[in-house]
Amino acid sequence: MKRFALAIALLSELSLPSVADSQRSAAEVMDILMWGREPVGGPFKLIDQNRINRTNEDFRGKLLLVYFGFTYCPDVCPTDLQNIGLALDLLGESAEGVQPLFITIDPERDTPEHLKNYVPTFHPRLLGLTGEASSIRSVADAYKVFYAKVLNEARDDYTVDHTAFIYLMGIDGNYIGFFPPGTSPDRIAEIVRKRLPPLR
Ligand code: NI
Repeated sequence: MKRFALAIALLSELSLPSVADSQRSAAEVMDILMWGREPVGGPFKLIDQNRINRTNEDFRGKLLLVYFGFTYCPDVCPTDLQNIGLALDLLGESAEGVQPLFITIDPERDTPEHLKNYVPTFHPRLLGLTGEASSIRSVADAYKVFYAKVLNEARDDYTVDHTAFIYLMGIDGNYIGFFPPGTSPDRIAEIVRKRLPPLR
């Protein structure tokens, strides 16, 4: 048993450097966000649940609520996506000025077809975005999102560890701020309302 535990410890140590090479730790990105140490956000080229190409430029003139997660997430992602959906409902007609985006950090399983079954359960206007693993990594890095696959060998399965902030981006595409996980729909709506562009 001891030997087994040691082997596991060695294995995880061996696999650590490759993870560290490709990205920063969860603590590091959270620190950057909390203290505003680096710019947040950036350009992306992804595809939505209807296989339509989407770039950040498509959403100029709208506020963006950007959330990174994955459809197999058992509780945090669904709760936050539900809160985003409810916040949009609270905003009523003026919610037209906001585009909610769900960017998967599990593009291997979250194909457009899979997203198509998932995103409408939270809000009809929620767009699910996926793409090449490298495109996902680069947009996640730009938003200071940490994510890493965690293998469950017993079940021949994996989950994805990830930071879960809701990002609010301005109509010019610039970062305004973030909501921590579990922010209530009322609070999201209250903050978003102050930033909405005038209705046309
Ligand atoms: Ni999640």
